[in-house]
Amino acid sequence: MTNIDFNRRRFLQYAALGTLTTSIPGFASTANRHLNQTPDKVFKPDVEIALTAQTAEIPILPGAATRVLKYTGKLLKGPQAAIKQLPGYLGPILNLEQGQRVRIFFYNQLPEPCVTHWHGMHVPQIMDGHPMYAILQGEQYVYEFEVKNPAGTNWYHSHTHEMTARQVYQGLTGLITITDEAERKLDLPSGEFDIPLVIQDRSFTSGNQLHYSLTMRQRMQGFLGDTILVNGQRNHVIPVKTRAYRLRILNGSNARIYKLGWSDGSPITAIGTDGGLLEKPETFPYIMLSPAERVELWVDFSGHKTGSELALQTLPYQGFSMGMGGGMRGGRGGMGMQEGAVDQGSKDTLVRFTITEQVSDSPKLPDTLVPIHRLTVKDVSNPDKTVPINIGMRRMTFNLNGRIFEMLDYTEQERIPLNTVQKIRISNANPAMGGGMGRGMRGGQGGGMMGMMMALPHPIHLHGQQFQILSRKPGYADNAYATVKDGFINSGWKDTVLVMPGEEVEIIKPFMDYTGLFLYHCHNLEHEDMGMMRNFFVS
Ligand code: C2O
Ligand code: CU
Repeated sequence: MTNIDFNRRRFLQYAALGTLTTSIPGFASTANRHLNQTPDKVFKPDVEIALTAQTAEIPILPGAATRVLKYTGKLLKGPQAAIKQLPGYLGPILNLEQGQRVRIFFYNQLPEPCVTHWHGMHVPQIMDGHPMYAILQGEQYVYEFEVKNPAGTNWYHSHTHEMTARQVYQGLTGLITITDEAERKLDLPSGEFDIPLVIQDRSFTSGNQLHYSLTMRQRMQGFLGDTILVNGQRNHVIPVKTRAYRLRILNGSNARIYKLGWSDGSPITAIGTDGGLLEKPETFPYIMLSPAERVELWVDFSGHKTGSELALQTLPYQGFSMGMGGGMRGGRGGMGMQEGAVDQGSKDTLVRFTITEQVSDSPKLPDTLVPIHRLTVKDVSNPDKTVPINIGMRRMTFNLNGRIFEMLDYTEQERIPLNTVQKIRISNANPAMGGGMGRGMRGGQGGGMMGMMMALPHPIHLHGQQFQILSRKPGYADNAYATVKDGFINSGWKDTVLVMPGEEVEIIKPFMDYTGLFLYHCHNLEHEDMGMMRNFFVS
């Protein structure tokens, strides 16, 4: 028995999964999975929600309605504010409070498997939406968890094996907000002054249907649409008053990375990241937001005249793409790679705020927000060990530590002792060679080699608890890096971190409370579905 077989067997026992059938690759038969299909009698929910994944026809563009997949939700128990319906294809916003016990009856009415992940939330394995828990059409899964996260903006989306990209693209996305004591004391803009913005890019056919088919290039780069939607709408305009607002922004795109900036060039003020509020507001010339990342902004329109307009844009930056690397020069990085602004780095308007009403009162930006216990190397349980996440590529498929996703698979190095704090090094230092070369190459080598360069940014997401960024070390391609480097928020709690080509990012992450399999993967959803995903086994 190999180590992996042994571990897998242990896991099977642990999760009482029994044997998994392989009739649908990677997808377990109902009979043998430990699905949570009935409510737990002992669990007393404060909030109970019915959430259904279904097909729907939603008007997005003028003319014919668009066929989408949509989460619809209904509050069964709890405060009315716990669920907020949105127009369009996005699921309802779930407004939760820290400490609440939440039960969600998830119904799959799609003619395909589906499972829902609560992105950013610290929940037990069986509630985390691991693809092994996908259910079939007509089935129900009961999610029950306590809200442990602090105030902030999380989200939910489908996480179905090899179908995540398409299902999310077709609409299976919704926001979760959480409030807590500490946040309530701050008196931040609330109600109509607290605006969620889900940014996504899509492409439409001439018949207004979502277009999703991947060119070879898009298979590698991830899907990039030609139409920006914000909260499911094109050319989104929001009327505002001359006062301060809180904007909760989620990049819900499959692969597109935004460089957020204001149209008047003014600096951009962040008050929160993936995992909640920052210690204090921080100002940036622009903010990079990769798929799955959230940022909360403070924006004050009080200096603006009524009738004027301020737009949130994505600014140009030097993206990375594949290119033919013929006759590569050795020496300092670069290696003859095409380092060009790819279609991802172009300038575009995301959402326009039109100032429509003069008001005299506005909350003031607090000097401090919430205390954050800063993790340092001293907090790491085993200071001699760094958990590696090496981004690689083989046979035109991105991988992590040389492996691609297998439902229950983990290696010795992916075993994490429960209740420990780990230092993790995510490395995107080796631009991969495709086209038969099959090996990552380091700057300095080279000379006369022919092949396709894959130097791409990857948003790496880890399930479970939020982490902190310890350090970032840029590598080759500094010219391009210079166009993005001032847009990283490294101070708050994170669950997704953008790792640029050449870059090495060290993070510190606690693995508390829950044992089991927790995913880590690239949140470029095309990369995820091609297998750029692995399990940590916490035990
Ligand atoms: Cu938002 Cu494993 O995903
Ligand atoms: Cu990736």
